[in-house]
Amino acid sequence: MIRLSVFILFACYIVMAIEAKSLPKTNTLDQRVDSVLKLMTLDEKIGQMNLLTSDWDVTGPSINKGYLADIKSGRCGNIFNAHTVAYTRKLQEVAVKESRLGIPLLFGYDVIHGHKTIFPISLGEAASWDLEKIERSARVSAIEAAASGINWTFAPMCDISVEPRWGRVSEGAGEDPYLGSRIAEARVRGFQGKNNNLADPLTIAACVKHFAAYGAPQAGRDYNTVDMSERTFRDVYLLPYKAAVKAGAVTVMSSFNELNGVPATANKWLMKDILRKELGFKGFIVTDYTSVTELVNHGVAKDDAAAGLLSVKASIDMDMQGEAFAKYLKNQVETGQATIKMVNDAVRRILRVKFQLGLFDDPYKYCNTEREKKLIYAPEHLEAAYKVARSSMVLLKNANNTLPLHKGEKIAVIGELATSTRDLLGSWKAAGNWDFMKSILDEIKAYNGAENTLYSLGCKKMGNDRSEFEAAIEIAKGADKIVMVVGEDCDWSGEASSRTSIKIPGVQSELIERLTALNKPIVVVLMNGRPLDLSKESKLADAILETWYSGTKGGKAITDVLFGEYNPSGKLPMTFPQNVGQVPLYYYAKNTGRPIYLPNDKYKSKYIDCTNDPLYPFGFGLSYTTFSYSDITLSNNNLTNDGAIEATITVSNTGKVEGEEVVQLYIRDLIGSVTRPVKELKGFQKIALKAGESKKISFKITPDMLAFYRLDMTYGTESGDFKLFIGGNSRDVKETNFTLAK
Ligand code: GLC
Repeated sequence: MIRLSVFILFACYIVMAIEAKSLPKTNTLDQRVDSVLKLMTLDEKIGQMNLLTSDWDVTGPSINKGYLADIKSGRCGNIFNAHTVAYTRKLQEVAVKESRLGIPLLFGYDVIHGHKTIFPISLGEAASWDLEKIERSARVSAIEAAASGINWTFAPMCDISVEPRWGRVSEGAGEDPYLGSRIAEARVRGFQGKNNNLADPLTIAACVKHFAAYGAPQAGRDYNTVDMSERTFRDVYLLPYKAAVKAGAVTVMSSFNELNGVPATANKWLMKDILRKELGFKGFIVTDYTSVTELVNHGVAKDDAAAGLLSVKASIDMDMQGEAFAKYLKNQVETGQATIKMVNDAVRRILRVKFQLGLFDDPYKYCNTEREKKLIYAPEHLEAAYKVARSSMVLLKNANNTLPLHKGEKIAVIGELATSTRDLLGSWKAAGNWDFMKSILDEIKAYNGAENTLYSLGCKKMGNDRSEFEAAIEIAKGADKIVMVVGEDCDWSGEASSRTSIKIPGVQSELIERLTALNKPIVVVLMNGRPLDLSKESKLADAILETWYSGTKGGKAITDVLFGEYNPSGKLPMTFPQNVGQVPLYYYAKNTGRPIYLPNDKYKSKYIDCTNDPLYPFGFGLSYTTFSYSDITLSNNNLTNDGAIEATITVSNTGKVEGEEVVQLYIRDLIGSVTRPVKELKGFQKIALKAGESKKISFKITPDMLAFYRLDMTYGTESGDFKLFIGGNSRDVKETNFTLAK
């Protein structure tokens, strides 16, 4: 017996075929969507606006165990946190064979920095400043996710943040809108394929999140109030979301936070005026986890029904786990509180993505067990993870060339994180597992020889147990150098993991201090998901290597950097302050009316207990070699409104080993109708130089790079004087001047 749904779908194709005769040859995407829409009941339409988590993974406060029945009844058209071919096929078969119309499911998952092969956390990837590698990371993540039955990822996270107390800085690209925008584009290309060809079974739909300005919670406390000027929002926070939308991302996720008094999930200005009208976004908007019903907590809706109504009026299309649409939208349409147009528009946008993914042509296109076996943990994927991990590491200090270590040296490795594989994966590890992975200690032993590699726990990554201190000190006495692996537990950053202190937790630093009494070189290897206050460790350690959480191949990548098999090339994507009291501290600050360089000692913008400087500035990172920069030459010092000038600088590798350098371009608008930042990143190039080699690096400067939201809130440039800076970080730069003509 042909099931009703198959029959109806068959009928729908017949209808389309008949219509096709009267339609232009190509059945356009919208015509295909409408041919399904017109078959749907109101219940089925609202079912497509409902996204439920499977119980395979829980990423929020609630779960509805009845999702299988909801799929069958058509009450749920999309599932997240489900993966593997076997499980997604099982759920897809329920949708396609048992629901009335057989509309295929979307399967969403947080494939943030890897699916099974895990790459460095996103903040770590950002530290590579290597867009090709970042795109490769997203590409591999998409391939493995697609091979596991997933067709939609909740990434890239595009939230700019200057708040190291906020745990989710680990998932982003740091403080800078230019770097964050380029990375967002690279990630969309990686997930959706270079030409956004979602019909390719190894591409998945991207999701720009968390729209918007979720990265600016007051006091760095997750989910907290966000309040900023429209100018700051448009000049800084909006840019990476905009870049990701322009790159073709087909979905956007609304954020938990309010922005200037209106929660994002009910914010018409954000969703309709900015996202859909100004940015031209044509895809669908999904909420974050129960962020619809959380409008009640925000105090803008009296109950879940009112919350759902606010959201659908703000043109939210899909409700993640809140079930407000599922429970109340039908009645709201029938009673005229909401319109059928709102529902039809939402369902059209959702069906479009399902058609673009090819799910109507083949609902099981992501369910291929052979591909799953072949592609998960493919050698080339693990190799990619290793290379991205190496590139993400930032050398913060290297006194007396303590690093690189030399094979055969007696090394004392100390710290709980040196033996942890779970922590290497970071907080959003998706389906990554770690039981087969090698730890940092494993890899150092393999490289340096077990006989040359001593280990002692020393202390745990948290708590104040000092009972292992003496044993560690004894071990260290027998070593040439000490490698202390310290930092945060991987769950001390990520969602709902804000901290009031950004110091290294527990007594890890105390042990470093105790070890300095041995007068042996101490290398601190950091594992952390946020900028830390390293003011104490920067004095105690001879070398500091920032490794973030470096993923499945992190152990080998860290070992190879420590022993000089790879020369570290990472640069900080976020400022490291001297202490949390300076936060927010970021390089694109305003000059103020009493800048620190004024001649008097008192009346200027400063602290009485700390300098204004960061410990390590944005864009900072050392190398095992050294680089020198020539003076900048400009093709012209006068930029016309329809012209361009070229800034050129010669970068030389003045050391003994080859290395990579991130050459950074900053610009300052000296006089504006509003105050302007003292620097803004406007370009960068990551280059490789052999020992002794020099390269001429050029940047093209065009007027559009100088545009901003002016006093009257129009967007554009203002003529006048500018400074241009080029260097290896935001502080140590060469500078020159140019003018923009009227
Ligand atoms: C979480 C996160 C969001 C994630 C979603 C689904 O609460 O805020 O980033 O994509 O729920 O897991």
